Amino acid sequence: MTNLSATDIGQVIVGTKPGDVRPADVSPSDVAIGIDFGGSGIKGAVVDVRSGLIVGDRLRMPTPRPAVPHQVVGVMNELVRRLVVPWDPEIGAAFPVGVGIPSAIRKGVVLTAANIDPAWIGFAAEAEMGRAMGRTVVAGNDADVAGLAELRFGAGQGQRGVVLVLTIGTGIGSALFIDGRLVPNTEVGHLTIDGRDAEERAAESARERLKLEWREWAAGLDVYLHELERLFWPDLFIIGGGASKRADNYLGFLTVETPIAVATFRNNAGIVGAALVAHERRTLAMAAAGEPAA
Ligand code: BGC
Repeated sequence: MTNLSATDIGQVIVGTKPGDVRPADVSPSDVAIGIDFGGSGIKGAVVDVRSGLIVGDRLRMPTPRPAVPHQVVGVMNELVRRLVVPWDPEIGAAFPVGVGIPSAIRKGVVLTAANIDPAWIGFAAEAEMGRAMGRTVVAGNDADVAGLAELRFGAGQGQRGVVLVLTIGTGIGSALFIDGRLVPNTEVGHLTIDGRDAEERAAESARERLKLEWREWAAGLDVYLHELERLFWPDLFIIGGGASKRADNYLGFLTVETPIAVATFRNNAGIVGAALVAHERRTLAMAAAGEPAA
């Protein structure tokens, strides 16, 4: 793996928000690193999986161009290296990494590439990233992991029944839950509506691309939600992704009967959920090996 320098990776934006915790406040056995692979930026943080809080700073680096797997993995590797700097090296080296990728993913392998470079199709993400980073890496669909964060700690906490989380941003991601259990890779952002892929009209990027007023864009989103309602009969929709930040501009135009909640983690759900799946996998592996969960 290439060692990228700060100039190769561009500016790193560092920030801590109120409510986040410091490394000294958590037990290292309760943390994992979460990474969210987006079109413009790759974000990551150390997460306390018992509370869903970010520990220390969250880092963001620009997504490299072209965003082909080995380049992106190089940036993720650098992000992880920087995230563990505040920790004792031996402790930080054991943190597992979870990565949310905007594609269907089965057994750690990337299957689709709707909004990312086609070179990702067939990429053995978990194996390759694990090798590059020298630690356990768990890869999941970005919306699936974001949904897990919302169900565990956010807008869907304790919610039984059928919950459909939609992350509305560049594309539309989906995470379907029944009594809190995920049905992975639902990909309902690609449902065909009026002969077109739903995300072409209802993603947030479509509002920007087509220069639509909120009301016009919401009308398309509403048609889409009605179709989902007719097919899944959910008990709750949760809207996340970039569009969750400006929900007040369009929620009033939506006419579905299903209650709609706005994701509480906003854009951080992907980081938190990715850390959750990584931590769970490590806990399972340790139990299988007969090791105490520390
Ligand atoms: C992809 C999904 C992803 C969603 C949000 C869609 O285009 O097919 O896998 O979850 O975008 O990033």
